[in-house]
Amino acid sequence: MRAKRVRKLIVAIDGPAGAGKSTVAKRLAKELGYTYMDTGAMYRAFACRVMEEGANLEDEKGLRKLLRDTNIALVEQDGRLSILLDGVDATDRIRAPEVSQWASRVSTSKIVRQRMVELQRDMGSRGGVVAEGRDIGTVVFPHAEVKIYLDASSQERARRRFDELKDEGNQVTMEATLEEMEERDRRDKEREIAPLRKAEDAVVIDSTHMGVDGVVARIMQEVNKKISANH
Ligand code: DC
Repeated sequence: MRAKRVRKLIVAIDGPAGAGKSTVAKRLAKELGYTYMDTGAMYRAFACRVMEEGANLEDEKGLRKLLRDTNIALVEQDGRLSILLDGVDATDRIRAPEVSQWASRVSTSKIVRQRMVELQRDMGSRGGVVAEGRDIGTVVFPHAEVKIYLDASSQERARRRFDELKDEGNQVTMEATLEEMEERDRRDKEREIAPLRKAEDAVVIDSTHMGVDGVVARIMQEVNKKISANH
């Protein structure tokens, strides 16, 4: 008897900045042999382009042209995810704190979101992805088999972001990091199109007092439940 082919799942992880989405999504993708999709990196890459061009976010025609002329690609090289902006590696550049704020601003635009969602659905069309962002379970992949809403207290999230930024050599203070993060969260949650919110069928995980291993193990339970149900 021929073994039944099991479709690879889509694992959607949403949540605010600093909740641990990237670390956890990368680990899960590795364990499952799936593709890791960092959708925030795509908004960040386009934000770099907007900053360079000094583009006006209110100018729909100009923004459409910029979207058409910009090539954004996520590629896996030597087990590391890189983002190419018009063919040039922008992986490090997109992490600068000012790019975080610009990415959040740029992502309020309907046409920008339409384009990014199109690219993301294309990448996930065959399943086998762990995608993280703000609207993955609600908009990009509403039929994802596993949906997680990963959260943590804002103090803890700011502390994690602060440590990360310091390690990368940025001159930052804890107060400024917390303030910027709260501003970004507010914008991401209050925007009109695809705001950050928990999908109705998402499992909520509060990682405030959890380590990465614990969160990964908890999500793997959900993944394994779906895999067994599919058999
Ligand atoms: O996940 P991140 O911090 O790299 O995302 C940067 C910004 O991009 C975030 O503040 C809001 C936006 N974003 C979004 O609107 N939708 C996504 N799916 C991912 C990110």
